[in-house]
Amino acid sequence: MMIRTTLTVTLKMVFILSASPNGRNLHDSADIHAIMIQDKVRTSTYARFILGNSILFTDAVVLDVGCGTGILSLFAAKAGAKRVFSVDASKIAEKAEKIVEANGLSDVITVVRGKVEDIQLPEDVKVDIIISEWMGYALLYESMLDSVLVARDRFLKPDGVMAPSDCRMMFSLCDATEIYKDRIGFWDDVYGALTTSDSSFKTSDACTQVLT
Ligand SMILES: C[S@@+](CC[C@H](N)C(=O)[O-])C[C@H]1O[C@@H](n2cnc3c(N)ncnc32)[C@H](O)[C@@H]1O
Repeated sequence: MMIRTTLTVTLKMVFILSASPNGRNLHDSADIHAIMIQDKVRTSTYARFILGNSILFTDAVVLDVGCGTGILSLFAAKAGAKRVFSVDASKIAEKAEKIVEANGLSDVITVVRGKVEDIQLPEDVKVDIIISEWMGYALLYESMLDSVLVARDRFLKPDGVMAPSDCRMMFSLCDATEIYKDRIGFWDDVYGALTTSDSSFKTSDACTQVLT
């Protein structure tokens, strides 16, 4: 029987002017996780893949890289995983642990707080499946691809499955004149009171807009 193990993430056009990594840990707070979970395309795609492939997940040992609230780990447990290791570097891991308890899944899901590059799994276990939602806007912004690849090399069995295993990045030309005026040109004259020649105001963060 063919098992579909490819979770393809197709991004609609995302317009990026610039991106700079900074020291903030956005993922400590529950708010950003609520926004991610409320992204129906994102979360329901993972749900459909995991819950629709219980033949793959049944009795599997799973690693959830960057588990956040633990949502993907919960799907994996519901799909029949016998053990799930849910790793997150930020404070949200404490909340994930409470969520796992509240769902009565502490015997299946173990939350580990730390960077996946640094943590150890009990008994040097190797996993059958790695699940992760590592994609930032346009795949690369805030992305954790490097960390997921380290996780693969450290913890995945040779015949293990990565999900997603492939992604598609799509580009298109667009006219961003209005977006530029609103979000970048804005700093040239704020209520006639503020102008700035400090270009970091304009370019220190990504400017994203989903175009449908
Ligand atoms: C995009 S969120 C996804 C959260 C959750 N899996 C979901 O689908 O809602 C990525 C998470 O990965 C965590 N993270 C980023 N880099 C990490 C690393 N190197 N090791 C462990 N966790 C990491 C962040 O703290 C964040 O909670």
